[in-house]
Amino acid sequence: MADDFRILVVDDEAVITRSCQRILQAEGYNVETASSGKDAVLKMEQAGYNLVLTDLKMPEMDGITLIKWMKNNRPDAGVVIITGYPSQETIKDALDVGIIDYVPKPFTPAVLLDVTGRAVEWVKGKTGVEEKPKEEFPPSMISELDRVIEQYKTKPGSSIPVLQRAQEIVGYLPPQIMKRVARGLNLSPAEVHSIVSFYSFFTMKPRGDHNIRICLGTACYVKRVEESINKLKAELKIDVGDVTEDKKFSLETVRCLGACGLAPVMVIDDKTYGAVSPKKIKDILGSYS
Ligand code: FES
Repeated sequence: MADDFRILVVDDEAVITRSCQRILQAEGYNVETASSGKDAVLKMEQAGYNLVLTDLKMPEMDGITLIKWMKNNRPDAGVVIITGYPSQETIKDALDVGIIDYVPKPFTPAVLLDVTGRAVEWVKGKTGVEEKPKEEFPPSMISELDRVIEQYKTKPGSSIPVLQRAQEIVGYLPPQIMKRVARGLNLSPAEVHSIVSFYSFFTMKPRGDHNIRICLGTACYVKRVEESINKLKAELKIDVGDVTEDKKFSLETVRCLGACGLAPVMVIDDKTYGAVSPKKIKDILGSYS
């Protein structure tokens, strides 16, 4: 992690800022903390931050007000919210102010690192600090996508249907496609990115014939899901977010699969596996041969 990439964690609960700082610093991130929205503004007026992780409910200046201030004064910085279970209302408010993702409270170190890692990648891609090589898409694919955008662009609430069609056409939603949709629908890239992050049916990476989703939420984490994730990575010889060489499996982590009573939980396509363990992983994968 480059030292000049700076993260600010904002929360009035010192236990949250301290644990975020400890977890992220252990992975080499450059992290500072602020205890309120006001404190964060003061810090941002004195120094540049590339990514801000902020709570929403804080005394004096809440997170939404802070994000609005950032939109006007620090538009290049990315924002991730730290929030309790996100309701439709929270999601709507957050999307309206242009956040790029969220960390659910209570969070596990794995979820914090997962969300932060993707947010850092997104901010770097947006600002061109670390531009990835462009992937080429066939012109026929792009013109089909443009036709869809054209068809929907004057209709309100069209972002989700357009992104669904884009995913059907391309297979997934890489940054170039999200940017094209954003431009076509007159949205900011951050708005499109946050919609794709929130809804698990969207994917930013290509998927294999069988998509494995394994849960990093609290209930699964305390039941040592990480051991099963490591076993999956070793068996499939891929990392989280990747596809096996034969394109048979892809591996994703999620924040909660809504089946906490069965923890640790894994879903392959539409089938749920409860109480997974490293021992069971090989047999489960074998049943897909
Ligand atoms: S925490 Fe894993 S299913 Fe809810």
